[in-house]
Amino acid sequence: MEVVFKIIRQQQNSHPVVQTYPLQVEPGNTILDCLNRIKWEQDGTLAFRKNCRNTICGSCAMRINGRSALACKENVGSELARLQKISSSSLSTNHNHTINEITIAPLGNMPVIKDLVVDMSSFWDNLEAVAPYVSTAARQVPEKEFLQTPQERSLLDQTGNCIMCGACYSECNAREVNSDFVGPHALAKAYRMVADSRDSNQENRLENYNEGTKGVWGCTRCFYCDSVCPMEVAPLEQITKIKQEILDRKKASDSRSIRHRKVLVELVKAGGWIDERQFGIQVVGNYFRDLKGLLSLAPLGLRMLVRGKFPLSFEPSEGTQQVRSLIESVKSGDW
Ligand code: SF4
Ligand code: SF4
Ligand code: FES
Repeated sequence: MEVVFKIIRQQQNSHPVVQTYPLQVEPGNTILDCLNRIKWEQDGTLAFRKNCRNTICGSCAMRINGRSALACKENVGSELARLQKISSSSLSTNHNHTINEITIAPLGNMPVIKDLVVDMSSFWDNLEAVAPYVSTAARQVPEKEFLQTPQERSLLDQTGNCIMCGACYSECNAREVNSDFVGPHALAKAYRMVADSRDSNQENRLENYNEGTKGVWGCTRCFYCDSVCPMEVAPLEQITKIKQEILDRKKASDSRSIRHRKVLVELVKAGGWIDERQFGIQVVGNYFRDLKGLLSLAPLGLRMLVRGKFPLSFEPSEGTQQVRSLIESVKSGDW
């Protein structure tokens, strides 16, 4: 069958252009096979990264039909079927229309060097920022290797699967708006270090990952990293585990991020849903201790009051008891 590849091409400091390449392909051909053929048979100037061709090296990540993925993992048949499914669930398109186009673009959140090749310097710098090495500084280094039990080792399996492809970083919403945020790949690696029984720097690590919005509190929990990761590393899940380690060690008064999480759970436990007036006073106003924070809420409160949207009273939800039992059961791990 013939498929038209629409490739977003770009030189440094210039606008992107779309170039189309028709190609006779089989459904089982990978996107990387197709790019290779375009380069070898039609246009030797097309630039993209590749190496292992087998989902191992992480080199070939790019945006395929709008989501970041490995070109050597995805194939033409499944890509077209995915597009067809999206198209048939859309009300505005002709459902009988057969799709035979695949769009390829460079990864997001990183500047383009040429065509599908991006500059990954910030990706590597942010990985470095979480100190991604086992630290034995506070220990006597044994003559032979450290031993781990199979259970201790199994804690590292999921995060150890990361091939540093950059797909999660490319899709990260937090990274897009906050250049301080280190990104999902780095925090997944950070959890690998926190969970490693050989590491002796856990407390310092947690302090570092707790800082401002560069660490775990910068994540907006959009879930994109988990949904695109080709190795099922589930960075958001690892971020959540780090947050739990931090929350277990900290009091609500320690920072606004910590209060945000603790107050939210307590208010939902108390009323089944959030009493927003209390939420503002306790989180932003730090229980009336932070006058500047409280004053920052005043303009919003006034606007809500004028428009009749300020809740003057709070009604607990009907299912408060069930919600409370649910939270307590999750916290106790009794499920
Ligand atoms: S976490 Fe997944 S998506 Fe992110 S760099 Fe590692 S393998 Fe790629
Ligand atoms: S869940 Fe967090 S880390 Fe993952 S992509 Fe969204 S904002 Fe980024
Ligand atoms: S070429 Fe190595 S992961 Fe695709």
